[in-house]
Amino acid sequence: MTGTVRFLLDGEYHELRDVDPSLSVLNFLRYQLARTGTKEGCAEGDCGACTVVLGELVGDRLRYRAVNACILFVPTLDGKELITVESLKAKDGSLHPVQQALVDSHGSQCGFCTPGFVMSLYALYEEGETPDRARLNDALAGNLCRCTGYGPIVEAGLRMTEARVPVDADALQERVDALKSLKRHETLKLSHKDRLTGNEKVYFAPVNLEGLADISLAYPDATYLAGGTDVGLWVTKQHRELAQIIYVGDVEDMKHIDITDRSVEIGAGVSYTDAVEVLARHYPDMGELIRRIGSVQIRNSGTIGGNIANGSPIGDSMPALIAAGATVTLRMGALERTMPLEDYFIDYGKQDRQPGEFVARVSVPLPNENLHYRAYKISKRFDQDISAVCACFAFEVNKGKIEEARIAYGGMAATPKRAAAAERALVGEAFDADRIEQAVAALAEDFSPISDMRASADYRMAVAQNLLRKAFIEMSGEADIRLVGEREAAHA
Ligand SMILES: Cc1cc2nc3c(=O)[nH]c(=O)nc-3n(C[C@H](O)[C@H](O)[C@H](O)COP(=O)(O)OP(=O)(O)OC[C@H]3O[C@@H](n4cnc5c(N)ncnc54)[C@H](O)[C@@H]3O)c2cc1C
Ligand code: FES
Ligand code: FES
Repeated sequence: MTGTVRFLLDGEYHELRDVDPSLSVLNFLRYQLARTGTKEGCAEGDCGACTVVLGELVGDRLRYRAVNACILFVPTLDGKELITVESLKAKDGSLHPVQQALVDSHGSQCGFCTPGFVMSLYALYEEGETPDRARLNDALAGNLCRCTGYGPIVEAGLRMTEARVPVDADALQERVDALKSLKRHETLKLSHKDRLTGNEKVYFAPVNLEGLADISLAYPDATYLAGGTDVGLWVTKQHRELAQIIYVGDVEDMKHIDITDRSVEIGAGVSYTDAVEVLARHYPDMGELIRRIGSVQIRNSGTIGGNIANGSPIGDSMPALIAAGATVTLRMGALERTMPLEDYFIDYGKQDRQPGEFVARVSVPLPNENLHYRAYKISKRFDQDISAVCACFAFEVNKGKIEEARIAYGGMAATPKRAAAAERALVGEAFDADRIEQAVAALAEDFSPISDMRASADYRMAVAQNLLRKAFIEMSGEADIRLVGEREAAHA
């Protein structure tokens, strides 16, 4: 088994044989192609210095997204276009409008972060966007600059489209055709012998569910790879050797979002970026919570399926999905089983998944008109930070009575977990402040949080309790009345 990774770079086909499956795109660019414009800052997806853009065919359209090259494995480039800061230079050597805007706005000092900013902005530019300040703040939240300050950089983002170069339709069509010719219809299989250890590494990228199921049974101990925003760090930070990798990102059947009249079904290979819009339509708070997961680069790569499979107690999507009543479907061979999402998490680092079994999709019921839903993330920084506490609430209230209560927290236990005692205190009772206070007290039965670098146990409990109060105040409309009253009083 050898196999070839094929991708486009600067309009040329690149074919790689005998590639280390966990070689990062960053190291490949810097050490094998000597393209040193892409920088390494943190090697964990945090700083954005390594940002590159991936072009991918979605139907007949080319879609461009910024990603972190430091945690992206080279074989996942297969079938895509890779664009780095070196790609932007015009044939006559002139700067790209994004680069020129950064120069004109004085958006660079030492320059170390600059290629990363250029590429994040370039992704917006290439998608045809004319971003406003809010969009730029979001798009650049995953790019850290230690010297320039963000004002001039955002300014550059605001003016970069003033000199937009018209799209060359012929050149675009060439790229589309080139990517079409790279489309794979069967599993990519790679093997590589590590030169230092002599150990064999294998990598599989199936293209459909059946292929994934077969390979999973044949390699039950393999590591699944989706966006790599967790797995990538196992390699860059923990120096783990991954002997067998199964990449799920090319499995077409797992990249679907299907909306029925009862639920939204999200394939395990769907990125946060693709899922957020649909989820936000039905659960606006869930949308905002997902928008605060990592950065644009992380959300372009990372998947909800990976977040669930990883099962971290501080993962954000799980409490939000559990409160909404989501189920997860696992598949082994031709057999599928579906369970309430909360049942999937058994203990710290332990999930209800057998060797050879994989997460296929998550299903989120659509809310009915009586459902009140809120999701909150408390972290030290607003963007690009991990939750100290994540709290999500769904109350079905009919004629002033709570018919169903689903409360789920992250950061409060060894797994994402429902607050069973607090829920019991509410169901069948009046939706009022007294009853909420009883649920608040019951949270102490549900959780014994730990102290760590993110927060103390006392802080976590106080926040968890206050968020339940906040949810009630918002749901019952009290917040608006009170805030409006305060504002009016202040202006009186
Ligand atoms: C800088 C940074 C910021 C982050 N910020 C946040 C944040 O704010 N909130 C948050 O919740 N998370 C955050 N994360 C964590 C991460 O983005 C998520 O856990 C992500 O959802 C994982 O998805 P992935 O597709 O990248 O999975 P991968 O890294 O590819 O895989 C994650 C795990 O799931 C397994 N896996 C993947 N797919 C499947 C499958 N289909 N079946 C079975 N197993 C599978 C893998 O083997 C691995 O164990 C951050 C990460 C980084 C690097
Ligand atoms: S090097 Fe910091 S995000 Fe990649
Ligand atoms: S210009 Fe120096 S880190 Fe941004």
